Amino acid sequence: MTLAQPTTQPRLPSARGPLSSTVIDLVAERAPHGHLQRIETSLGDADPYGLDLQLALAVCYELHYQGFAGVDSRWEWNAGLLHLRGRMEDAFLAALRRDVGPIEADDGVEAEMARLSLEPTSGNGPTWFLGSEGTWEHMQEYFVHRSIYHLKEGDPHAWAIPRLRGRAKAAFVAVEFDEFGGGRPSEVHQQLFADLLAAVGLDNSYLGYLDYAVAESLVAVNLMSLFGLHRALRGSTIGHFAATEITSPSGSQRMVRALETLGAPAEAIRFYAEHVEADAVHEQIVRADVVGDLVAREPDLEDDVVFGIRAFEFVEDRLADHMVACWTAGQTSLRRPLED
Ligand SMILES: [Fe+2]
Ligand SMILES: [Fe+2]
Repeated sequence: MTLAQPTTQPRLPSARGPLSSTVIDLVAERAPHGHLQRIETSLGDADPYGLDLQLALAVCYELHYQGFAGVDSRWEWNAGLLHLRGRMEDAFLAALRRDVGPIEADDGVEAEMARLSLEPTSGNGPTWFLGSEGTWEHMQEYFVHRSIYHLKEGDPHAWAIPRLRGRAKAAFVAVEFDEFGGGRPSEVHQQLFADLLAAVGLDNSYLGYLDYAVAESLVAVNLMSLFGLHRALRGSTIGHFAATEITSPSGSQRMVRALETLGAPAEAIRFYAEHVEADAVHEQIVRADVVGDLVAREPDLEDDVVFGIRAFEFVEDRLADHMVACWTAGQTSLRRPLED
């Protein structure tokens, strides 16, 4: 088996504590094969939302996407590493279940999606901040936070495809087809975001800003991988996907206005303008055909779909609060300032 091409792959990030250092040091070696090597690392009192655990988890998950330059591809299915990943996932999921709270019997998914689709007339998240008092520096920081996800947009949800059936599957794939450019590489949403980064003078390489990412950014992306990689959590993947699509048009519309006000290049506006239009259609398909059909087929998944929606809101709110709190205090919201 060959090692992957270093030219197209990200570099391993710098460790941020004992867990991330264990994982990063380990995958820098050749993967053992033919025997099970247990990784003796204590999770101790690691914060499940903290940078150390989330970075360790992000590195584990990335082995299923593009991998890292110089990292042996066989680590992806190394039982010792998967066992450690499982323990970190247990801690992360337990914290999410605690913070999202119980899903009550009358918390139906229809009501939940209707609540999400109400257009807010005011708010205090970053897209509101950027539209009122945002500077170009704030905008660039926003792009950097979002680059971790948008350069792999559509990928974490795509794990759900083999787990769906019938109308839910057909409709889900129809939406993902748009995310992946409808057959045109230049229209792949990941590419549109890479074009945006290039147009605003930022690095558009995949995970190019991993060392700038705060824990809150990693939590938001790791949540999608956690849901996507576990068949048991397929309902929550679909809930997360639905929440993403339903809330995208109004947030993207605010971004278009903020970018126009700041005189942003056309490529930057285009990424968000595309999401205003496409996601208004996606929202309808996702609500009726993906979620509606999935829950009709597998009624037991309804609570999981609601959990996916609420977990999305919980982690996105944490990231939003972090950005706005830093900007309001006149500080960078990144782990280190961009000019470093
Ligand atoms: Fe998209
Ligand atoms: Fe979409």
